[in-house]
Amino acid sequence: MTEELAVCCEGLRHRFGDTVAVDGVDLRIVSGEVFGLLGPNGAGKTTTIRMIATLLPAAPGAIEVFGVDVNRRKLAARRLIGYVPQQLSADSALTGRENVELFARLFDVPRAQRRDAVDAALRSVGLDDVAERTAATYSGGMVRRLELAQALVSAPRLLVLDEPTIGLDPIARAGVWERIDEVRAATGMTVLVTTHYMEEADRQCDRVALMHRGRIHREGTPLELRTEVGPEATLEDAFRAVTGDALGESTGEGMRDVRAARRVARRVG
Ligand SMILES: Nc1ncnc2c1ncn2[C@@H]1O[C@H](COP(=O)(O)OP(=O)(O)O)[C@@H](O)[C@H]1O
Ligand SMILES: [Mg+2]
Repeated sequence: MTEELAVCCEGLRHRFGDTVAVDGVDLRIVSGEVFGLLGPNGAGKTTTIRMIATLLPAAPGAIEVFGVDVNRRKLAARRLIGYVPQQLSADSALTGRENVELFARLFDVPRAQRRDAVDAALRSVGLDDVAERTAATYSGGMVRRLELAQALVSAPRLLVLDEPTIGLDPIARAGVWERIDEVRAATGMTVLVTTHYMEEADRQCDRVALMHRGRIHREGTPLELRTEVGPEATLEDAFRAVTGDALGESTGEGMRDVRAARRVARRVG
């Protein structure tokens, strides 16, 4: 049986000055699955997905998104991808609808379909009732769902989410995932997500890769990775067994990120 690959990358490398952020990453993500890239802050997750999302050069490695070579056909690849960055990106002075319309224009949603596409995206994240309010009046969870709508408005085949639930309370986190699951059920969209919330990854991802210091150390279903370590093991235990590091202890950047996200969330909503 041949499975269609949503993402196929080989030999990804990226350095920032002396820092090797990504050090030879190979990934295969099957169409329709939810794939989690897991690791502590500084592991290289964001750099990896920015390369896949065409925001950083993929060369000297190779990346194909649904068979489209990202190095050679960047614009064609971009049309297949929706990207939600870690830093909050919604404009608090605009209404929910205006924020989504902006992305519809940015991503070349044809003018004749724009209105319907924006309506559908707002509906799919449950913000249709508050679409005419400015994003400044939204809660943190609503802002995150608005950003999801921005990424969904171009009907991407691959949705790339960088720490989508960071800084959100458990109810808002569940709300974000419910919306993602609904869209997936309706469209078969593939999801690539980074997170350092291990129990969330365990619950939401079909397969995960454990990333540490620029490299992928292990890959499989959450169940496979847990049972390798022991009958009662968590994904967190699996991570520690593979890398020798605890997730939370790595650099202390985790809390800084959460605080930064909360600050922006407060500013926005
Ligand atoms: N723009 C940048 N300039 C310099 N160093 C960076 C930059 N972005 C990331 N890095 C470094 O690259 C490494 C990987 O970062 P990143 O991909 O953001 O990891 P993660 O998303 O897993 O936290 C870290 O050591 C980080 O400090
Ligand atoms: Mg990151």
